[in-house]
Amino acid sequence: MKLIVCKKEKIESLAAAEIIKLVNENPLATLGLATGSSPLGLYQLLINDHKENKTDYSKVKTFNLDEYLGLPDDHYESYKNFMRRNLFDHININLDNTFFPHPEDPEGYSELLHHSKIDLQILGIGSNGHIGFNEPGTPFESKTHIVALAEQTRLDNARFFDSIDDVPTHAVSMGLDDIIQAKKIILLAFGKSKANAIKELVQGEPSTDCPATILQRHPNVTLYVDEDAASLL
Ligand code: GLP
Repeated sequence: MKLIVCKKEKIESLAAAEIIKLVNENPLATLGLATGSSPLGLYQLLINDHKENKTDYSKVKTFNLDEYLGLPDDHYESYKNFMRRNLFDHININLDNTFFPHPEDPEGYSELLHHSKIDLQILGIGSNGHIGFNEPGTPFESKTHIVALAEQTRLDNARFFDSIDDVPTHAVSMGLDDIIQAKKIILLAFGKSKANAIKELVQGEPSTDCPATILQRHPNVTLYVDEDAASLL
């Protein structure tokens, strides 16, 4: 794994530059996308670039990591809604080319991923080391599946809802084995709350206690981490 420690703004522009280069070189590129606060600045830079330079997403395909269960698609905090608000509605992507895991057919999503092959996967990381919604204890061989969210994850995500009681208890997520099929992976981590997870990821043994440690087995991963998230290294 390559580790790059620098300021958030710099990280966002480096990550955006990679995506823009990929899409310009391959208009049929397949992107793996994440939600949460970590990729927001990156998505804004993609939007700015699309407005200025007309980078063309009309044939790009995207696969999101995960989706809550029990929220209607038009709920403000559903990940479909999140992606539209924060990226899709502001670039020329065809919504028919944007995919999310569905609770009624998790296996179908893994198959689709297997056939489509993600060129570049963007990841955030949970404070407990989850990637996607693969909570501690998830087997490394896991495919897309339904998950019960860890209490820590519900607490972390409560800031986006009126109260913790409104945070869904379950989600559907790409599995760890699905995630590491991507050709290249970029993980973004900002702030002190991620420091423990980053320490485990970089210095710990691969273990399902910290699902992100599976990334140590992937040949092309870059960790973009700010000084706070790197503070325990
Ligand atoms: C959420 C998402 C993850 C995300 C993580 C970190 O629960 N399911 O895909 O990477 O938590 O979120 P944030 O970037 O807001 O810290």
